[in-house]
Parts: sequence; structure tokens; C-alpha cells
Amino acid sequence: MPNFARTLLITLILTASGAPFARAEMPGDPAAVSQDDGKYADKDGNPTYKVGPDGKVDFYSYTGFVRYSANCLQCHGPDGLGSTYAPSLVDAFKSLTYNEVVGIVAGGKKDVSAAQDLVMPSLGENKNVMCYIDAIYIYLRARSTDAIGRGRPADHEPKPPGYSDAENSCMG
Ligand code: HEC
Repeated sequence: MPNFARTLLITLILTASGAPFARAEMPGDPAAVSQDDGKYADKDGNPTYKVGPDGKVDFYSYTGFVRYSANCLQCHGPDGLGSTYAPSLVDAFKSLTYNEVVGIVAGGKKDVSAAQDLVMPSLGENKNVMCYIDAIYIYLRARSTDAIGRGRPADHEPKPPGYSDAENSCMG
């Protein structure tokens, strides 16, 4: 069956089954297969974490922890575990893809069916978030598979050589 036809069929089945949160795509295998200046990627080319046998994490996971704590923790709780305001991202990242996460963070989300007014602000204009979105994604991906535990990672790889230049040019 051609790809588009299969996609259409899956979409129709999911729609017909009325599963509002069913997703055809999943984040996939998080194993790191390549790396570019200290940023690891999985087999699909999406950003991922790398944790050594000694528990040492890649630099992006560490930066992600710091940026998460500064920009997301106030609503989503310490270590991504959720709060009375906002859902657990440790759970959400088990099924959200990289593209879905970037879309939600940049554009926001409002749960119209919730009894409470739950609003995820759109942070697409916030450089403190968007310049670090890959790091935040990588950290939360590691939390969702339990590769990284609660709290600040004890040890991390050194800052990659090109990191500061890329950071400065993004932050302007
Ligand atoms: C002002 C509070 C607030 C802040 C700050 C915030 N969020 Fe949210 N976020 C929410 C709420 C509330 C929801 C649930 C919205 C809904 O259900 O429609 C949410 C939903 C999400 C979702 C979708 C979860 C799902 O199950 O589909 C993601 C992903 C997310 N937030 C990531 C982030 C990240 C990453 C940051 C930091 C860069 C962040 N949020 C900062 C309040 C916040």
C-alpha cells in the first residue's frame, strides 16, 4: 500500500475509534547513534541524550535541566513531574515527538475540554526558551525514560567547543 494511503487509513481508524489523544507517531528509540559538537541524535535524526555508565550526562541534558528549571518548573513542577497547574512532562514525553513538543512550546496549548482552565503559554518569542529548546527536549526525553533521575545531574560532559558561539548568535 502506498505510504500516503496507509497514513490516511491510520488517521481514519484513529478518528473512527474516537481516541482523542491517539497518535500515529511516537518518539521512537532514544539511543544515540551520532553526535555533532556534543549534541547527540537518534536514528531518526532527532535530538537525544547520552548517559555514560558512570552516570555522566551529555552537556545538552545538563543545560536542559538548568533551562527547564528556569522556564518550565514553575508550572510543570520539579524534575518534570507535574503540578496542580500543569501536567507531568515525564509522562507526556513518552508519546510526544520532537516536532510536537517544539510546536506546543512555540505555539502554546489550551485544553478546551478541561473543567479547569489549563493554558500552556506560547513561548515562541522567548529566546530564553527557544534558543535552548533542543536542550530542554533532550533533558525531558531522558526524564521520560528514567535515564536521568530527579535533581541536578551530578556530572556532565564539558561544554562543546562551538556551543557558546551558537548560543550567542541565537540570543543575539
Ligand atoms: C504558565 C505555566 C506554564 C509554563 C511556564 C509552561 N507550561 Fe507547559 N503547559 C502548561 C499547561 C497548563 C499545560 C496543559 C495545557 C493543556 O492541557 O491544554 C501545558 C502543556 C504542555 C505540554 C503538552 C503536554 C501534553 O500532554 O500534551 C508540553 C510539551 C509543555 N507544556 C512543555 C512545556 C515546556 C518545555 C515549558 C518550558 C519551556 C513549559 N511547558 C512551560 C503550563 C505551562
